[in-house]
Amino acid sequence: MDYPDFAPKLIDWYNHHQRDLPWRHTKNPYFIWLSEVILQQTRVAQGLPYYVRFTEKYPTIFDLAAADEQELMRLWQGLGYYSRARNLHATAKLVVAQLDGKFPERYADLIKLKGIGPYTAAAIASFAFGERVAVVDGNVYRVLARIFGVDQDITSTEGKKTFQSLANVLISPHNPSVYNQAIMEFGAVQCSPASPDCLLCPFQEQCVANATGQQNKLPVKAKKAPPRKRFFHYFVVEQNGKLALKQRTQKDIWQELYDFYLLEPAAPAASLDELDPNDALRALLQNASKISRSDGFVHLLTHQTIEAIFWRVTVEGEKEITLPEGLVFYSATQIEQLPKPVLIGNYLVANYTF
Ligand code: ADE
Repeated sequence: MDYPDFAPKLIDWYNHHQRDLPWRHTKNPYFIWLSEVILQQTRVAQGLPYYVRFTEKYPTIFDLAAADEQELMRLWQGLGYYSRARNLHATAKLVVAQLDGKFPERYADLIKLKGIGPYTAAAIASFAFGERVAVVDGNVYRVLARIFGVDQDITSTEGKKTFQSLANVLISPHNPSVYNQAIMEFGAVQCSPASPDCLLCPFQEQCVANATGQQNKLPVKAKKAPPRKRFFHYFVVEQNGKLALKQRTQKDIWQELYDFYLLEPAAPAASLDELDPNDALRALLQNASKISRSDGFVHLLTHQTIEAIFWRVTVEGEKEITLPEGLVFYSATQIEQLPKPVLIGNYLVANYTF
């Protein structure tokens, strides 16, 4: 198809079909940044309530910079990729401390900030400041690959360059902001991954994928490695109505969130003996009045599958015990406030009345 036709047609489609979303009513770079970070790897329906909660709780970048990190992580709970929340906080603090709370206005400056990559920098620069830089996200790869028949691997460096160059040519010089919203919306609503609505598509006649029946083959994406399997055995130590939790400090999933004492064998283990508890845990188990084992929970993350078993370890109130390092007893009210992985939150809801 002719490149000059692309942007006007797309914008015309957008004017008739766009969803009414709150971040489309603002030019405030802080709100736009929040929305884009929340929406990375998250569907609009799932991200929307988080956006509302974040903007209510932290209406300005000064509020976010001053936020209590634990409270912020608790608010982020369920969105995954917790480093995104930590980067948000770090960048808010930097913008407040070094730039008087004023967001940089240019792509080239935005991209220097922690947690802001090419996509987010382009989104903020174009939506808030009208800079002509094309956003390229999963939606954009799909739309361009199908309409223009680009069959390069979108995970390769070469492929990424090709798509970025094409996007930079196509973007409207008159209205880069609306164009960028439009192409993402088109990918989400019209040219969806599994069931594109080709019958009612404004690009029906020009689209290479439609002409050749390759909608399901494009975009080309190299096969990912299968998710890594992990086997978690959690020990939920309970005494006087309190549970022992610890903060995850290691470089792994769920950094800074709270969970229970954890043993992770390399292969599934059916019994405590197979788990071969260390001395600290062995002492604790010897003091328990009751030990019960949950059924297995399967928890899916993008790159990992976790099979979790919870061992509920009840210790009589008057027993003197030494908790393994890092564990602290928390009351129900305190636990409610702690940021926790969804796996832990679900376990608590199913097994305790808080
Ligand atoms: N996904 C990522 N950014 C988005 C936006 N601004 N609108 C709709 N969906 C999105």
